[in-house]
Amino acid sequence: MSFDTPKDRLGTDCSKWDLMEPAFGVPAEDGLAMWIADMDFQPGDFLQRAMQGLIDRADYGYFCGLESYTDAICWWMQERHGWTLDPEAIFTTYGLGNGIAITLNALTEIGDEIIIFTPVYHEFAKKIGKTRRVVKELPLVQDEAGLYRMDFDAYEGMLSGKERLVMFCSPHNPAGRVWEQAELSALAAFCQKHDLLLISDEIHMDLTFAGQRHFPMTLAAPEITDRLVMTTSASKTFNIAGGRTGAVSLPDPALRARFELFFRGLDMQPNLMGVALTRAAYTPEGAAWVDELTAYIEENYRIFKEGIDAIPGITLMPMQGTYLSWADFSGTGMARAEFSDRVTNRAKIAATPGHTLGTGGENFLRFNIGTQRARIKEAVSRLQDAFSDLQ
Ligand SMILES: Cc1ncc(COP(=O)(O)O)c(C=O)c1O
Repeated sequence: MSFDTPKDRLGTDCSKWDLMEPAFGVPAEDGLAMWIADMDFQPGDFLQRAMQGLIDRADYGYFCGLESYTDAICWWMQERHGWTLDPEAIFTTYGLGNGIAITLNALTEIGDEIIIFTPVYHEFAKKIGKTRRVVKELPLVQDEAGLYRMDFDAYEGMLSGKERLVMFCSPHNPAGRVWEQAELSALAAFCQKHDLLLISDEIHMDLTFAGQRHFPMTLAAPEITDRLVMTTSASKTFNIAGGRTGAVSLPDPALRARFELFFRGLDMQPNLMGVALTRAAYTPEGAAWVDELTAYIEENYRIFKEGIDAIPGITLMPMQGTYLSWADFSGTGMARAEFSDRVTNRAKIAATPGHTLGTGGENFLRFNIGTQRARIKEAVSRLQDAFSDLQ
């Protein structure tokens, strides 16, 4: 299998492609879907074999053997991230969005303020709203190199005292910022100082570019284990979000007991497909596939950045990982309606509107580059045409 192998997902009930026209008005026949965080690649053979194994066994009844599934998660975290995870600390949720919502319900109260560093994955704010907590936005700033940074000095003056929890994205969605150890330590100190719990959403942890190292929060700042909830999943890395399986893990026994009290009452159990896919993904074969994948995405990024940066006024933020690129249109001087219209209607590309990711995202669009290289080149050429009057 090559990542270049074309894959037509239209008409397969694939959200990213089949909802593009209803959501953006971008025509299905010649539009490019670069929005939802879902990749267009053929799944690894190891995943196909796992699914075939389920079919061959022809048994969809109640199942056991969950130890090998949690062992696979622990193996992966140790092998790929140097994180020794206790299988007892893991709770399986219905995807990670669900895991985050459960955590909010379990560990905070209605009306509590939840900190997010914006712009950030739009569902964070939605989960906070759905669980009747209150969004507290703390804006990220860009350094001289254009990278997002947290600005803890500035945040000191923005707090109300009603904040209870920080919802953190590591690596960051959008733009794939891979946070440094020192930044994670500073975040930990901030949480301690203001008595905040911390959800470290590390769903993108495996998708880092050459020379980058992702630090799981629990390793970067062991001093805050007693206030830490780690959320991980194989879903982004292996593009198996349809398996709806996430892992919420709480290394601290006391915090875990609090979480468990709520979680038990939900009476949730993992599903057969999600377990089979996760177990097959977190293997040496899966690891080799991820190494190839990240190299492929990094090259996509290089090509996309070169093409975008060649358009006067548009800049692609430097990426250190993930496939969620972040393009800044502010240099064009155009209003949001204008640049969005050109991308949607002239280039026929569905990209995620930046303002939906919170304060600071207004002049951006998020382009998903987890697709075949030919599509990346096509997107560059369409965008250059759509903004050709700026040349
Ligand atoms: C940071 C982050 N967390 C959670 C999710 C959602 O995960 P799931 O599909 O497992 O609910 C996403 C999806 O893009 C994400 O980017």
